Amino acid sequence: MSDIILVRPDETMLDEIAAYREAMLAAEDSFDGCGGLEDYESPAAWLQHVRDMENPETCPPHLVTATIYAAVCKTDYGMVGMIDLRHRLNDFLAEYGGHIGYSVRPDERRKGYAKQMLALALDEAKKRGINRVLVTCDEKNAASARTILANGGVFERNAWLEDEKQTVRRYWINV
Ligand SMILES: CC(C)(COP(=O)(O)OP(=O)(O)OC[C@H]1O[C@@H](n2cnc3c(N)ncnc32)[C@H](O)[C@@H]1OP(=O)(O)O)[C@@H](O)C(=O)NCCC(=O)NCCS
Repeated sequence: MSDIILVRPDETMLDEIAAYREAMLAAEDSFDGCGGLEDYESPAAWLQHVRDMENPETCPPHLVTATIYAAVCKTDYGMVGMIDLRHRLNDFLAEYGGHIGYSVRPDERRKGYAKQMLALALDEAKKRGINRVLVTCDEKNAASARTILANGGVFERNAWLEDEKQTVRRYWINV
């Protein structure tokens, strides 16, 4: 039983979105699964971008269409994380990025939210007909690796990402 649900962010969540961005910036964290939120001071502008990303006609040409979800607590609807589901893989995603990216608000970590978020996003992937899901993480990111393994991830191989000078671990999950 999950403590959270995934929702499409909307105008009722503008303050939460701004607070999420501030918390991630303050922690100097990587905005994984956040649909480029770091680049948007205006939550309303970011919402428009998120909606543009879902539609092949409005998705920026260098990106693939994706759905960005906010993970909110069932009890108080507070936003605890963000997770995105890419509808297909381009060359970069097929090697390094995978289908799904995620982050949890720094003050909400180690409560099991990432594991629940990934499980819920895998349900969404299945609904879209994506039955084999690629999820990747930096080899130094033990928390993300454990999140993937807890959701049935099977390690395939490492990939060397020259631009970032980092090794990426690749896992497949059958849903
Ligand atoms: C990675 C991240 C999403 C994990 O979120 P979380 O909600 O704290 O994770 P969970 O509480 O669901 O824990 C998942 C697993 O990681 C482990 N874990 C969590 N934080 C950890 C840490 N700092 N070090 C080692 N293991 C950790 C948990 O114990 C759990 O493993 P277990 O079930 O085997 O005990 C979060 O740290 C984050 O947002 N980091 C920045 C963005 C990022 O790295 N995203 C992933 C990109 S691939």
